[in-house]
Amino acid sequence: MSGRDLRTYLQILDSADLLLHVDREVDPKFELSSVVKAAEKQDSAIFFHNVKGSKFGVVANVVVSRKMFSLLLNTSEADTVREYVKRAENPVKPKIVSTGPVKDHILTGASADASVLPIVTHAIGDVAPFITAGMAIAKDPETGYTNMSFNRMQYKEADKFGIRMMAPQHLGVIHGRAEKIGKNLEVAIAIGAHPFEMIAASSTLPFGVDHFELAGALAQSPVELVKCETIDVNVPANAEIILEGEVLANVREDEGPYGDVFQFYIPQAKNHVFRLKAITHRTGAIYHTIQAGTKEDIHLLALSREAHLYHALNHAGFQVKALSNTPSLLGCVVSIKKRFEGEPKNAAMCALGAHSWLKYCVVVDEDVNPFDMNDVWWAMVTRGRPDNGIFIVPEARGFPRDLHHIHQSKIGIDATAPLEATEERVRKYIPGEENVELSKYVSQRKGPLRTT
Ligand SMILES: Cc1cc2nc3c(=O)[nH]c(=O)nc-3n(C[C@H](O)[C@H](O)[C@H](O)COP(=O)(O)O)c2cc1C
Repeated sequence: MSGRDLRTYLQILDSADLLLHVDREVDPKFELSSVVKAAEKQDSAIFFHNVKGSKFGVVANVVVSRKMFSLLLNTSEADTVREYVKRAENPVKPKIVSTGPVKDHILTGASADASVLPIVTHAIGDVAPFITAGMAIAKDPETGYTNMSFNRMQYKEADKFGIRMMAPQHLGVIHGRAEKIGKNLEVAIAIGAHPFEMIAASSTLPFGVDHFELAGALAQSPVELVKCETIDVNVPANAEIILEGEVLANVREDEGPYGDVFQFYIPQAKNHVFRLKAITHRTGAIYHTIQAGTKEDIHLLALSREAHLYHALNHAGFQVKALSNTPSLLGCVVSIKKRFEGEPKNAAMCALGAHSWLKYCVVVDEDVNPFDMNDVWWAMVTRGRPDNGIFIVPEARGFPRDLHHIHQSKIGIDATAPLEATEERVRKYIPGEENVELSKYVSQRKGPLRTT
């Protein structure tokens, strides 16, 4: 066994003081996610050891910050994306093993009862508890290619879930192919794996490119896979929990509402149905939950897209200092070393063309921090020129789920200073500020106003 799993990663977070432990009992309906939200504000992962109604522990905020990605990739926060791109260049094929910890407990037939899981109801307005950190693994019936992606699943009955998976997402495409030949699609859901598997599952790769090879590339060693008990699908041998089952052909049922990644309630709609056949899990299994739209969700989706953008811009010859696809996935900020007037517009065209979800691209100078929206706005209002620094592309392909045609156009914004401008930026930095401990200066009292 490789020994690379969610548990070893959580130990790393614990040693870095980035993991909080909750021993008191917590209700999986609302209370748990309200505590996760408080932990999110301080960029902490959080482990609930005692969840009402379940013997499983629950973890959240597992990759809530860039710092956690830098720990994973063993590099600085500034170099995380560059390191990702470097590692992704060397895919590593998964390795099939005969068994693994995920087979500690094998529950089939009537014992495959999903009501024992601590499935969380995240927010008011969510119609039911949802599995939100389940990675769906399925084989394309035409090519044999195995896909892996996150797909939310609405708990309906002990052996039945709604699942949201429409094309162009690859799982939807694959299911469509199975349905065409009148077959249910065998699908395994992995809950609680190493973050490299999570990052790979949230990456949009060209159809046919193996998500497990990306996870292996990031880890620089193969993902170990083991065969499911009741379906012909291979799953991470070190995962905490696997749900084995089928997404039914020609069946759609009401699913939702659920608050989505962009913070809208997606209304109830007819969606696919997953029928559970078996549960396998580790002893003392840890259930992972992610609330849509939180920093964890956004970071998971952003990292691979930032790597893709960095790769495209770098190959096109731009001198990229840093770029950000957070806090909203439909926009990016690129900081470059500008060499020519007009170059920022070329960079924006490159980024907008490289990743179709992007609606906004703001290009800033290398002294602007793309992760700090106040700094980006400062550049836009002090350096950007609305009359010639902005271009709009109508009717370009954008984010696909777009009921009101809001995302099918693009804007590029050059927020760089003219090369001829020599005015130096006033630095907010004060020599020594990083060493100031306010408590060493401040007295614990109120008034009087003058003491000397
Ligand atoms: C926590 C989380 C939940 C997600 N839930 C869904 C979902 O319910 N339906 C969906 O289509 N995509 C969902 N996604 C996005 C896909 O997993 C992601 O876009 C992936 O890149 C799809 O890649 P593929 O088309 O190559 O399979 C989710 C992503 C994350 C990180």
